[in-house]
Amino acid sequence: MAESNNPQATLAWDGKAVSFPVVEGSEGERAVDVSNLRGQTGLVTLDPGFVNTGACRSAITFLDGERGILRYRGYPIEQLAEYSNFLEVAHLLIYGRLPSEKEFGRFEYEVKHHTMIHEDLKRFYEALPKDSHPMAVCSAVVGALSAFYKELADPRNAEQVDGAALRLVAKMPTIAAYSYKHSIGQPFVYPMNSLDYPADFLHMMFATPCEEYAVEPALAKALDLLLILHADHEQNCSTSTVRLVGSSMANLFASVSAGISALWGPLHGGANQAVIEMLEEIERGAETPASFMSKVKDKKNSVRLMGFGHRVYKNFDPRARILKKACGEVLSALGRTDRLFDIALGLEEIALKDDYFVSRKLYPNVDFYSGIIYRALGIPTNMFTVLFAMGRLPGWIAHWKEMHADPAFKIGRPRQIYIGEKRREYQAVSLRT
Ligand code: CMC
Repeated sequence: MAESNNPQATLAWDGKAVSFPVVEGSEGERAVDVSNLRGQTGLVTLDPGFVNTGACRSAITFLDGERGILRYRGYPIEQLAEYSNFLEVAHLLIYGRLPSEKEFGRFEYEVKHHTMIHEDLKRFYEALPKDSHPMAVCSAVVGALSAFYKELADPRNAEQVDGAALRLVAKMPTIAAYSYKHSIGQPFVYPMNSLDYPADFLHMMFATPCEEYAVEPALAKALDLLLILHADHEQNCSTSTVRLVGSSMANLFASVSAGISALWGPLHGGANQAVIEMLEEIERGAETPASFMSKVKDKKNSVRLMGFGHRVYKNFDPRARILKKACGEVLSALGRTDRLFDIALGLEEIALKDDYFVSRKLYPNVDFYSGIIYRALGIPTNMFTVLFAMGRLPGWIAHWKEMHADPAFKIGRPRQIYIGEKRREYQAVSLRT
């Protein structure tokens, strides 16, 4: 790689040498810009899992996996977790700046006044089986918003996009809480404008028409923290999905619905549910922590220590650090203990001393401790990933908007290396063996 004001990387191939510009981000990360590779050489890159591929330039989130750094729009996650709130962080991500007092007041007002969902959309839930996974329900309902807001579905119209973004942020807690109420056969509880964002969600989840339900402020605060910590994480699987779907000029509702589906899998957002199921299995005595860890390390098994490891973090995930502390604080504020928290601490202790994990740089990720707090809030296990989606929503919206505003915008369309049959001739069925 040449070192100059215009650094270049040279590819020597087939007796030729072709140079490509090396671009540098604001935090010093460098990339070879191969956008002209095929034009200049006829070659494409092959990078399964996009492990080495930068798909875009982005000004939203900075993540340094080696040093365990996460910043939204330049602000360290630790400061946002300590001093901000989720709606403010949503504003920061979607509009690029922390709101003034007046801007925040307006944003909060607008969000609060768009929380109800169309009564016809409520009936949509009835068509879905009660035992559906709430992620399936949320993805379907969010996708259906495109049918209810056709006037907000033009990706080229900034006003419509902002209208769609506002409705998504406002309605997501309602959609999520209704997916839970539907699953347990309880009546839907309407949103309440006197409550703030996390408290309103808890109210819709746990209130019934039969009695007063007061949201415990410590629980609403804990939920707000979880939402902040999940709000963005640059080009992860679901965000890349939202970008890819949006790149076909599909509307924001449809793109976010696809993002919810991508998040569902246990290697991504679904890991928070899988962590608790794993801890419960150990608690039931089906495994001891030691026997479970042996299984994890045995390559004959496909068992993984869920909530551990990360494609980008090769150090402690800073969100896991914050959540581990918050678990202790939430449990002590509630005057409770949780056996699963003790098991998680024990597993972490074993892992951080074990060469298998140390040599592979596997540390707890955001999902390792988040479920302990969700449990303390009374959130059922199958709703954990839905809460991840609620948190990640501003990030998805911010990336969708950023992609559309990018002068380099193009439909996402990777290449492949074909390894199938060469040309062969069609045979009539009677001739086939
Ligand atoms: N338990 C045991 N071994 C692991 C784990 C784990 N949790 N994670 C990675 N490894 C091993 C893996 O077997 C491989 O070993 P080897 O080199 O001997 O084949 C090595 O570590 C590298 O793993 P990888 O699968 O190639 O790494 P990746 O970057 O493709 O995968 C990951 C990252 C997050 C999918 C993976 O670490 C994993 O499956 N973790 C458990 C699921 C999880 O907690 N997911 C949540 C991710 S954070 C939040 C989010 O993105 O939603």
